[in-house]
Amino acid sequence: MSATNGNDDTSAWENVAHIDELDPDYPTMVTAAGVEMALCKVGDAVFAVNNICSHAFSRLSDGFLDGAEVFCPLHHGSFDVRTGQAIAAPCFEPIAVYPVNLSDGQVFVCPFPSGPVPAQ
Ligand code: FES
Repeated sequence: MSATNGNDDTSAWENVAHIDELDPDYPTMVTAAGVEMALCKVGDAVFAVNNICSHAFSRLSDGFLDGAEVFCPLHHGSFDVRTGQAIAAPCFEPIAVYPVNLSDGQVFVCPFPSGPVPAQ
């Protein structure tokens, strides 16, 4: 397995799911090193974003996916799960994106963000 974010600490990677457990229509909540993430299956790829919406407190894993766009269940703002960037209001601040590695269908995530790290 190779790190994709320049972080050589391979012990940070956690096996959190198998790709067959993921639904392309709904994010799946997982935790790695105490960080709550939403795993999002987009085609044959998997992306991991912070599970908490940047607009207010709501879990994106309670929302739904439309391709690479995840919709928040509370006010229906949305984000691009590939970049963490907000797409639809009332979301304007990005959400953190975490590195993902797939190995034989097993999904590994690293809790150190590779994408935008919003001010908290
Ligand atoms: S809490 Fe997510 S859009 Fe408002």
